[in-house]
Amino acid sequence: MNPFKYGRIVVDEDFCSRPVIEEQLTNFILSKQNVLIEGERRTGKTSLIYETVRKLKSYRYLYIDCFEIRTIEDFCRRTVNAMISMEKRAGFIESLVKSLAHLRPKMTIDPLTGEPSIGLDAVTGARPDSIEGLMDVIADEYGKRKIVVVFDEFQDILHLKDAQAILAVFRGKIQFHTSIPYVFSGSIRGSMHEIFYDPASPFFKSAASMTVSNLERERFGEFIIAKFLHNGGRRIQKELLTAVFEIAQDTPGDVQELCAAIWDSTSSRQSITTDIIPAALDLIFSREQRVYENYLGLLTGQQLRCLVSLARLNGKAPFSAEFIQDSGIRQPGSIQKALERLIGLRIIYLVNREYKYVNPFFRAWLLGKGY
Ligand SMILES: Nc1ncnc2c1ncn2[C@@H]1O[C@H](COP(=O)(O)OP(=O)(O)OP(=O)(O)O)[C@@H](O)[C@H]1O
Ligand SMILES: [Mg+2]
Repeated sequence: MNPFKYGRIVVDEDFCSRPVIEEQLTNFILSKQNVLIEGERRTGKTSLIYETVRKLKSYRYLYIDCFEIRTIEDFCRRTVNAMISMEKRAGFIESLVKSLAHLRPKMTIDPLTGEPSIGLDAVTGARPDSIEGLMDVIADEYGKRKIVVVFDEFQDILHLKDAQAILAVFRGKIQFHTSIPYVFSGSIRGSMHEIFYDPASPFFKSAASMTVSNLERERFGEFIIAKFLHNGGRRIQKELLTAVFEIAQDTPGDVQELCAAIWDSTSSRQSITTDIIPAALDLIFSREQRVYENYLGLLTGQQLRCLVSLARLNGKAPFSAEFIQDSGIRQPGSIQKALERLIGLRIIYLVNREYKYVNPFFRAWLLGKGY
C-alpha cells in the first residue's frame, strides 16, 4: 500500500515528528493557555493539533471546523454535532437541545450508523447571543475534564453577518473558561491577524501564538527515505529527494503528493533516481490538468506571461530588468496589475517578498509545456 498520505490529517506513523512545536503546543495545552496557530496552507496545522492531543493520551479534543461557515445556525450546528459525536449520553444531548431551544433543534438518527445529530431551524434566525448558551454547555460539560477545544479555519467566522458581535460574545465567555485550553487555527493569509492583532477586535492579544512552517528538509527527508525503504525496499537517491522538495516548494502536503506519485510509478526493491520525475508528475498532471486549463482560460496573455516568468525566475524580483525582459511586459504598472489578478485568483501568493504558486504542480506543468 502506498505509504504517502496527502489531502487529509496525518497522525501516528504517517506524521513526521516535529518535536519543537509539538512540545510548545503540549505546554500550552497543559497550562490551559489559549493558543493561535497560524501557517500557510497544507503545512500541517490540523495534523499537529491532532497528533499532539493524541500523544497526550488522557486528553480528548472537541474539534469544530469553521471552514466556509456561512451562518450562526451553521456555527451552532457544527459545534453541537462535534459535542454529540464525542458524547452520546442521552442526558447530555437533552441539555444541549434545551440550551438551543430557541433555534428549534431537531434530533435525527442516521439509519445506517445509528449516530444522532442535531439540525437547527434556520428560519428562526440565530443571533450572536445564541452562542452564549452553547458556550455555557461547553464550560459545564468540559470544565472539569481534560479536553482541548479546537476551532479550525477560525478566520471564516468573519464571513458571518454580525461577525464582530459574535466574536465579542465568544470572547466574553471563553475568558472565564480558565480550565479549558482553546486552540484557534487558521491560514496566514486568511484573516487571523484581523481577529487576533487588531486592537479593535474582541480577540486582540487573547491567545499565545505559534507558527507552523514547512518541515525541515533533513527531518522530513529521513521520514521519506524510511517510508520508501520499509514499504517494498525502494531506495531513493539524495538528488531525487532534493528535486522533490524543490518542485513541491517544501510544502508538506505537496511533498507527500509527489512522493505518492513516485511510489505509484515504481516497483519494489527499485533504486529510484531523478529519472522518475517526469512519470510521477504526469500522474499528477493527469488528475489536475482540467483545473490548470481552467485557470488558463481565465487569464489574459499578459497575465499568463507574468505567471510563466514567475515560474521561470522562481518567483523573485518581478520588477527587475531580467523579469521585464523575460515577460516582455515593459510597464511596472501592468506587471503589478497582473500580479494582483493572479493573487486574486489564488494562483499565486506573496510570502517573504517572493511570489509562490499555490499549487506547485501547476508551475511544473506550465514549465513543461514551454509556455
Ligand atoms: N508532520 C507531518 N508529517 C508528514 N506529512 C505531513 C505532516 N504535516 C502535514 N503533512 C502533509 O500535509 C498534508 C496536509 O496536512 P494538514 O491538513 O494537517 O495541513 P493544514 O495546514 O491543516 O492544511 P490546510 O491549510 O489545508 O487546512 C497532509 O495530508 C500530509 O500530506
Ligand atoms: Mg487544516
